Amino acid sequence: MDHSDKGLTRRDFTKVAAGAAASFAILSGRPGKADANVDTLKVGLLGCGGRGTSAAINILEGDNNVQLVAMADVFADRLNSSREKIKNSEKELVAKGYAVEDDHCFTGLDAYEKILQTDIDILLEATLPYSRSIHLLAAAKAGKHIFTEKPVAVDPTGIRRVLEAAKICEEKKKCVVAGTQRRHHRPYMETIKKLHDGAIGEVVALRAYWCGTLPFCHDRKPGWTDLEYRLRNWINYCWTSGDNIVEQHIHNLDVCNWVMNGHPVSVLASGGRVWKPREEKYGDLWDNFSCDYEYPNGVHMASFSRHWDGCAENVSEAAVGTKGKSTCRDLAPGVDETSGYIWEHRDLVAAIRGNAPYLNELQRVAESTMTAIMGRMAAYSGKLVTWDDALNSDLSIVPDVVAWDRPYPVGPIPIPVDKSKY
Ligand SMILES: NC(=O)c1ccc[n+]([C@@H]2O[C@H](COP(=O)([O-])OP(=O)(O)OC[C@H]3O[C@@H](n4cnc5c(N)ncnc54)[C@H](O)[C@@H]3O)[C@@H](O)[C@H]2O)c1
Repeated sequence: MDHSDKGLTRRDFTKVAAGAAASFAILSGRPGKADANVDTLKVGLLGCGGRGTSAAINILEGDNNVQLVAMADVFADRLNSSREKIKNSEKELVAKGYAVEDDHCFTGLDAYEKILQTDIDILLEATLPYSRSIHLLAAAKAGKHIFTEKPVAVDPTGIRRVLEAAKICEEKKKCVVAGTQRRHHRPYMETIKKLHDGAIGEVVALRAYWCGTLPFCHDRKPGWTDLEYRLRNWINYCWTSGDNIVEQHIHNLDVCNWVMNGHPVSVLASGGRVWKPREEKYGDLWDNFSCDYEYPNGVHMASFSRHWDGCAENVSEAAVGTKGKSTCRDLAPGVDETSGYIWEHRDLVAAIRGNAPYLNELQRVAESTMTAIMGRMAAYSGKLVTWDDALNSDLSIVPDVVAWDRPYPVGPIPIPVDKSKY
């Protein structure tokens, strides 16, 4: 897969970057209707791993007139195990909605192009952060409704690709829901509505934590090329995952942006790698980030993101106001607690069918992804990073060519201090 010709080339960056900040202002989730109101919605799953398989189950279990008709993954074994799991689901609606024929199963690095050529109405994009922006732009151009997992990119180059996709979806009135869960979780929705209505007064400070453990770390198997290993052990490499602040902490940063109805304007950050051995399987990521973000009105958000075993775990958000404080989900007693994973798909299908207003979340998930990326840029560089500088940066961390036979060495691990002084 040659990334340079699937989206923006390096030469295009400066030109497109100039318009990128404006793009954020143009799309605002205008009311209206999606272009389709079809009875049976046909779904294709791209990225048949853990999350993708669950997303397919979630959309099938949420509606009795949705069919899964196509599946695609870079690896045949991932596709086959996902297919078996969905086909054999004990959930009635899932088994009923499974309708995947062999000729609608696609593997390889170009599997995304093949699934987009089928007659699916909705693409579920659940591959990896590094490839998502390319897939989203292709899906937008192909005129599909989209459910996309997060984060939507790993660098500003990818973000600009997603902004282009957002505009195309808006023009074609194709709906997009992003898998940031909390945006569709009713207790969060109800609470944040109350915060916007002044329940705790004026918000003066925010806190976002993803203090957790290392999700997984796989040993390399004989016969795996560099690329196969990078993709199967993806959470440990910066170009495939974006580092933990982008891959996981985006959920909490997204909540704070939601409370603030916007994104930060600058960030100062630090962090490092304190426990991971310098082994290929542990990759090139840091294991902790601490960021101080500032919003346009001077409000600060304290953000911690880390992968430390055996330490305090805390995945949460908080807003402090002039009249009180909130966990951003605590002001909704008795509200439906059904998982955001289910509601994401119910809300998407309702918008596509015209039973709810047109929904396009690509811009706001691009903003939250960009918030995480600028935190990483500030931490890796040791510099204060502004939103405009980050968004207009030509930083591109995904290799220009992603192919099975190429070497993809690990690292180096970023060191922010100016080594010339020592
Ligand atoms: N919203 C959430 O709460 C949540 C939870 C878990 C994961 N995620 C996100 O979902 C995504 C997938 O995570 P996962 O845990 O399912 O990982 P996974 O490794 O289980 O699944 C990823 C799948 O994508 C496939 N893939 C990789 N590159 C591909 C390409 N170029 N084309 C087609 N297929 C490709 C892999 O072979 C694999 O089957 C990640 O972006 C992750 O951040 C979100």
